[in-house]
Amino acid sequence: MSFKTLVAILCLVPVALAQQPAWAQCGGQGWTGGTTCVAGYSCVAQNSYYSQCLPTGTGTGSGTVTSTSGGSSPSATSTTPLNTAAKAAGKKYFGSATDNPELSDSAYVKILSDSTMFGQITPGNSMKWDATEPSRGTFTFTQGDQIANLTKANGQLLRGHNCVWHNQLPSWVTSGNFNAATLSSIITTHCGTVVGHYKGQIYSWDVVNEPFNDDGTFRQDVFYNTLGQDYISIALNAARAADPNAKLYINDYNIEGTGAKSTAMVNLVKSLKAANVPIDGIGVQAHLIVGQVPSTLEANLRQFTALGVEVAITELDIRMTLPATDALLAQQKKDYQTVIAACRAVSGCIGVTIWDYTDKYSWVPSTFSGQGAALPWDANLNKKPAYDGIVAGFAS
Ligand code: XIL
Repeated sequence: MSFKTLVAILCLVPVALAQQPAWAQCGGQGWTGGTTCVAGYSCVAQNSYYSQCLPTGTGTGSGTVTSTSGGSSPSATSTTPLNTAAKAAGKKYFGSATDNPELSDSAYVKILSDSTMFGQITPGNSMKWDATEPSRGTFTFTQGDQIANLTKANGQLLRGHNCVWHNQLPSWVTSGNFNAATLSSIITTHCGTVVGHYKGQIYSWDVVNEPFNDDGTFRQDVFYNTLGQDYISIALNAARAADPNAKLYINDYNIEGTGAKSTAMVNLVKSLKAANVPIDGIGVQAHLIVGQVPSTLEANLRQFTALGVEVAITELDIRMTLPATDALLAQQKKDYQTVIAACRAVSGCIGVTIWDYTDKYSWVPSTFSGQGAALPWDANLNKKPAYDGIVAGFAS
């Protein structure tokens, strides 16, 4: 073998090692191997746990995938940390949700714990009813405390999530056939105990989560069916009594733009205020789809703050149909910028929280089949173009 041939082979080796062969795994939660494929094959997500090298053009979805041989995913160029950008724009925080299982991932925790990047944390699951009162009167705070203690150590604000919600409810609540008086006292005990446990540690609580159907009528869950809309004031009053300094929010999705559901929220907040029920904020979840940010977002945030409450974007993510293409990632960058700029423009919009920061731990792929790549960091903890969109939104 000539020297020239040897050099040529040696130069090729690292590239060959970095690329996954045809049909091999190339990604998914917990995957630490190569994420690009040999020529002619593209890395296509099959689900959140498994991406596979498939012949280019044959995977689900359409368009050019970004991690084909020889190509590389577009990435962010801004070096401004996101909480720093939010504060420079006059906001209280830029934050992220997290969840307990992820806290064993040290590379993940390192970024999460940087308070210049994230000034606020929301526990994605561990303060919910099933986690905190799995059987009646038995409260468990170990997981919630782990996240509360992390934010304390990091100097980050904490949002409590949540007291009363139709989901992740233990069956003793949903199937107890309680009468109105008993369920009222169950809500008061639950919210009072959970909010009381974290007294002094919480910036704001999502006291009531997702009370509405998309048409603006009240959701028919065990609380509404037993107590009518009174369950909302019962929960808010219990939360206020337990931690007078926490801001009390009602949080929902599909209230980003104007429409029946947003109008229902406006009317609810008006009626609570008229009845002197404590209410400090409206949480706009903002689980959005690439290319579909409502054009009325800013106007809608204004109509909320005009009620005399603050507003926060509480669960932002912007999903796409997989595979992620350069074009989709570019549109996603624009969409993040649009959402952040709307919050920036409305002084009563006090902060933005993304629903975790990396595609590695996003709830999207397991909830919306075939969709994902919704967050500003990819599954390898690399910043995506969306990151630049966030920075630009705060600067605009
Ligand atoms: C999600 C969590 O992220 C998932 O881990 C869990 O399996 C289901 O709930 N709206 C909310 C959040 O208010 O609590 C939800 O969180 C996402 C939708």
